[in-house]
Amino acid sequence: MRRAIYPGSFDPVTNGHLDMIGRSAKLVDELVVGVLNNSAKNALFSVDERVSMLEEMTSHLENVKIGSFRGLLVDYAKSISATIIIRGLRAVTDFEYELQIAQTNHEVDTDIETIFLTTRLEYAYLSSTIVKEFASYGGDISHFVPEQLAGRIYAKYGVKKYE
Ligand code: PNS
Repeated sequence: MRRAIYPGSFDPVTNGHLDMIGRSAKLVDELVVGVLNNSAKNALFSVDERVSMLEEMTSHLENVKIGSFRGLLVDYAKSISATIIIRGLRAVTDFEYELQIAQTNHEVDTDIETIFLTTRLEYAYLSSTIVKEFASYGGDISHFVPEQLAGRIYAKYGVKKYE
């Protein structure tokens, strides 16, 4: 049984994340999407909200499960018997940080490998930060996130325009 983890903040999940999840799920027996519960970060959505959104948006994928974790990713991976970490690379700007994390994680636990998937070109610019910035000004986020989630994101900013 090959279990992988796709970790992230997912605050909120974007179409880019969902594309990565769909493609990653085809490579492994089970994919756990791990939502980082980081109390130090000022998140827009609670961990429960992020987990629910991910569950809703991946319910059609039989081998995808959603979880959350605190602390080190390698410890979480070990606790759920995941031997693969999957991360997306959008552009060269992601590379240095991702390489550093992957190498550190491998140093700590040599049984866990990180695999990078390049994001689709249409999502190369996309991030949760961009979605929040757009939404906070009432901008159109319909190309960035599933339509079922857009209203929930606008609501966080009190934007009623696109609801
Ligand atoms: O979506 P993000 O914010 O880019 O995801 C970053 C994440 C969650 C993968 C990374 O911050 C992480 O793994 N955090 C848990 C703590 C940890 O293990 N850090 C890496 C040690 S160098």
